[in-house]
Amino acid sequence: KILILDFGSQVTQLIARRVREAHVYCELHSFDVSIDFIKEFNPKGIILSGGPNSVYESDYQADPALFELGIPVMGICYGMQWMAQSLGGKVEAGTVREFGFAEIEVNPANPLFKDLSDRVHGDKTCLEVWMSHGDKVTAMPAGFEVIASNASCPIAAMADTTRNFYAVQYHPEVTHTLKGREMINHFVLDICASEPSWTMPNYIDQAVAKIREQVGTDEVILGLSGGVDSSVAAALIHRAIGDQLTCVFVDNGLLRLNEGKQVMETFAEHLGVRVIHVDATAQFMGHLAGVSDPEAKRKIIGREFVEVFQAESAKLPSAKWLAQGTIYPDVIESAGAKTGKAHAIKSHHNVGGLPETMKLSLLEPLRELFKDEVRELGVALGLAPELVYRHPFPGPGLGVRILGEVKQEYCELLKRADAIFIEELRAAQDEKSGKNWYQLTSQAFVVFLPVKSVGVMGDGRTYDYVVALRAVVTSDFMTAKWAELPYDLLGKVSNRIINEVRGINRVVYDVSGKPPATIEWE
Ligand code: XMP
Repeated sequence: KILILDFGSQVTQLIARRVREAHVYCELHSFDVSIDFIKEFNPKGIILSGGPNSVYESDYQADPALFELGIPVMGICYGMQWMAQSLGGKVEAGTVREFGFAEIEVNPANPLFKDLSDRVHGDKTCLEVWMSHGDKVTAMPAGFEVIASNASCPIAAMADTTRNFYAVQYHPEVTHTLKGREMINHFVLDICASEPSWTMPNYIDQAVAKIREQVGTDEVILGLSGGVDSSVAAALIHRAIGDQLTCVFVDNGLLRLNEGKQVMETFAEHLGVRVIHVDATAQFMGHLAGVSDPEAKRKIIGREFVEVFQAESAKLPSAKWLAQGTIYPDVIESAGAKTGKAHAIKSHHNVGGLPETMKLSLLEPLRELFKDEVRELGVALGLAPELVYRHPFPGPGLGVRILGEVKQEYCELLKRADAIFIEELRAAQDEKSGKNWYQLTSQAFVVFLPVKSVGVMGDGRTYDYVVALRAVVTSDFMTAKWAELPYDLLGKVSNRIINEVRGINRVVYDVSGKPPATIEWE
């Protein structure tokens, strides 16, 4: 396994994903872990991430004793600068900040660049890389040689092949660095000699064994939401302990059309999981009546969920464990929160908010997995790809997609309009990419506007509600672009919604990016 030390770069998680894609297990930890922790972790190699600071004036300093463990180390950007400074080199502020594509000439004999080239100019082997830095290494520590350079960054990469120390100023983890994946593969597989044993079948075997060992003969409860994470967690735990698992599925009336039915079909009928289906629509609607503030609605939906879930689990007094679909990015985020490095998101309810009075131990079998690994696992466990590759759906569901007060009537209209939009996105193929528009968008949904406008249908005047279509493309949901859906697709969706959903007579398309808008309207 590989240890990644995080110096605070926005893209550190991508390093971990690239290493996992090489089928090598890795973990991401804060730069300031102790040397004893590193020894105990016993990695085959260490990767030092980038970071936003200047190494000569920052307190983001790892323990340089890690260079004495005889383990290969690779520094990226800030990680390179910290390595250079710690081993006796020099780092200085550059005259200009370098940001974006750069071509570097590399030494093809170095193991990091073995068999790699984007282009060859005469006898020069060159690679296209992504740079993002102000400072740079101006003098290398003893024992290092330059292995890549260009005019603005003469030491773009350096190595001490005797001690197996490598450092690159650019970012191999981002896809803009064309051969970045291969460089990371070379480091973890060749230089660190890691076994590529991190594969889904291996993982399932290990995870099943671990769950059995953890819970023994105890009973486990899990709040199934219909979302990807809780669904995959349920399938995995069920594989491990069968009927010792009971799922509680709370239908709050704010789910997508037929979602409750689909959850029951998938889990209860198809997989044979024990699922308690609670239809709490009336309770949620009752508490939401008259409330129009988005955060207040979120709080109510979160609170009612806890209430219903607790009442149901009280009926299972023998349960000792509460299972949750926590995934690795959640773990990293809450670790980040401790060091003050996490980013704030909209208040958010999931099973994570359950009170401690429940006195249950936590079972979180997906804690080590990234989202794409969770999806791969779901398919391997027999869940339908349509479920596993679904767009994210917010915990408060349609509650934040009906602007202002939530009413049952609005919910029914919105569910039907939304189902039409999603159906048409899935049906519309983009010829260029060979993918359908559901796959080409990261999140797409309909928003209900409690606004009436005038229309004409047949011979009559209508005075009905408006809905907005929202579709975005994003890789991290922190920023997003509105999706450039084809006009004929938009036209078809609009026609169908207005014709098929009586009560809606106008459809608009949201062309706002994030920032300054958010993805959801509330
Ligand atoms: P925004 O609207 O903040 O959304 O751009 C970013 C992502 O977060 C989702 N989202 C939520 N998810 N509970 C959730 O579980 C919430 O309250 C919530 N609010 C927004 C949103 O769907 C998008 O994927």
